[in-house]
Amino acid sequence: MKKTVIAPSILSADFSNLAEAVVSIDAAGAGWVHLDVMDGNFVPNLTFGPKMVADLRPYSSAIFDVHLMVSSPGALIAEFAAAGADYITFHAEAAVHSHRILGAIKDLGKKAGISIVPATPVGAIEPLLPFADLVLVMTVNPGFGGQRIIYQCFDKVRALARLRETGADYLISVDGGINPETAALARAAGADVLVAGSAFFSAADKTALVQQLRGNAE
Ligand code: DX5
Ligand code: ZN
Repeated sequence: MKKTVIAPSILSADFSNLAEAVVSIDAAGAGWVHLDVMDGNFVPNLTFGPKMVADLRPYSSAIFDVHLMVSSPGALIAEFAAAGADYITFHAEAAVHSHRILGAIKDLGKKAGISIVPATPVGAIEPLLPFADLVLVMTVNPGFGGQRIIYQCFDKVRALARLRETGADYLISVDGGINPETAALARAAGADVLVAGSAFFSAADKTALVQQLRGNAE
């Protein structure tokens, strides 16, 4: 069985010391760092831009998983690619020409991800699935850490896992409200990548938390 990827989100870290946050993610054995970019327009919150990604890059050898919650993602992908992103994921709801943006991300030598909010059905991105390296299912309404999971979103994870059987090759990521209990449900539904913000940064033992999220505890 393939190993579940854990991607702690620095959204829940102390923004005055994000370098330490990414170092703590590497030290906990997570392997991916999830970076939430918010523009105050697509979502009602603001975080950071490509300079933050570039400045953090030397502190970590982990995969940088950039989640763009912005209204015009196409205009920003080159900057995030240059900053050191490995995966660049944007929202289907924010783009008309999603297929073009997926191609542009790949042309920059990066992995391309597409995300859907809880209100968007899988059918809205079905034509794009053969072109995606990652599909990010939001299990909360994006904008903030520490929200309660919307369990119904797991139906979409199951649907994406079924659709993948017909030949597409994308990772299924879930983001929002992930803790050891909901992680087990996400894995059972078919998720490959689990994003965790508040659960990771509130854990006293981050290494143990990563193991629990993977289902390796005990
Ligand atoms: C929410 C972000 C998430 C967030 C998850 O809009 O996309 O990545 O950090 O936080 P938790 O794990 O606390 O729900
Ligand atoms: Zn995110």
